[in-house]
Amino acid sequence: MDKKVTVIGAGNVGATAAQRLAEKQLCDVVLVDIVEGVPQGKALDLTQAAAIEKHDSRVTGANTYDGTTQSDIVIITAGIPRKPGMSRDDLISTNAGIVGNVTKEVASRSPEAIIIVVSNPLDAMCHVAFDACGFPKERVIGMAGVLDSARFRAFIAMELNVSVENTHAFVLGGHGDTMVPLPRYSTVAGIPITELLAQERIDALVDRTRNGGAEIVGLLKTGSAFYAPASAAVEMAESILKDKKKILPCAAYLQGEYGIQDLFIGVPVKLGAKGAEEIIEITLTDAENQALQKSAAAVQELKDLLKTLG
Ligand code: APR
Repeated sequence: MDKKVTVIGAGNVGATAAQRLAEKQLCDVVLVDIVEGVPQGKALDLTQAAAIEKHDSRVTGANTYDGTTQSDIVIITAGIPRKPGMSRDDLISTNAGIVGNVTKEVASRSPEAIIIVVSNPLDAMCHVAFDACGFPKERVIGMAGVLDSARFRAFIAMELNVSVENTHAFVLGGHGDTMVPLPRYSTVAGIPITELLAQERIDALVDRTRNGGAEIVGLLKTGSAFYAPASAAVEMAESILKDKKKILPCAAYLQGEYGIQDLFIGVPVKLGAKGAEEIIEITLTDAENQALQKSAAAVQELKDLLKTLG
């Protein structure tokens, strides 16, 4: 393959992302993890599945960064996931150290790469990666809105008993309790869900979307969601690798857009070969804008907390 994607963290999200990247024949994949044998073992397993899945993507695993040089994209999933009772924010001190270190390792070897951050708390970890790599803002992007929107779409499809392919949804803001699902911009076959569902049902779906990650943590008990997070990261990677210029909700570094300054937060972004090529500013009602500003304030608090962690 002429494209190379490095996935840091060969755990649940990382290994699943590697599998999807390989099976979609998007690129060769390098899996890196600190646990000896795990990235090598999973890479070998995926390599053996290739004969049956019929693809020629090469998947390799390592505990060092030597094989990551000149990656087109680096997906960072290293860190700890949450357990029942934990919020994403509870992960901040552990994951900030891990994300900072791994970003430096990959950035020095792949100075032209586009970094997709997946580790939580997502928006704060984007700041850690951005500071550690020194890349332009277009090349550091966080995966959150695609996942949150996919969750919203799943719940809309379940509620209306329609194909999920007919659904479209937008979720903006930080990847946490303050996220901002936008029912007015969420549609089924082009029809806004506000025309199809009673307000109380929309509120219930919005609520379930906000708690979508926690619902799965509560069921799994030993970790957090990984199939949909991996799918979301790979959709972003595909849009970049193929220069598709899809507009997807992603955490991007805002410098005045939506009235927000110097902060990573979820907004609609055009993803192409150069990374976050454009931030799309959509018109928000007063209530939607207030919710977005509240979410930005919550991300700002975490950004400030990072400074105290050093
Ligand atoms: N370098 C490389 N890999 C690391 C490092 C490090 N410094 N520290 C931890 N890891 C690896 C772990 O060894 C583990 O294999 O990161 C992997 C994380 O995998 P899981 O524990 O299975 O967690 P996962 O469910 O994949 O979630 C990873 O993504 O969605 C977020 O909140 C989630 O922050 C979490 C991250």
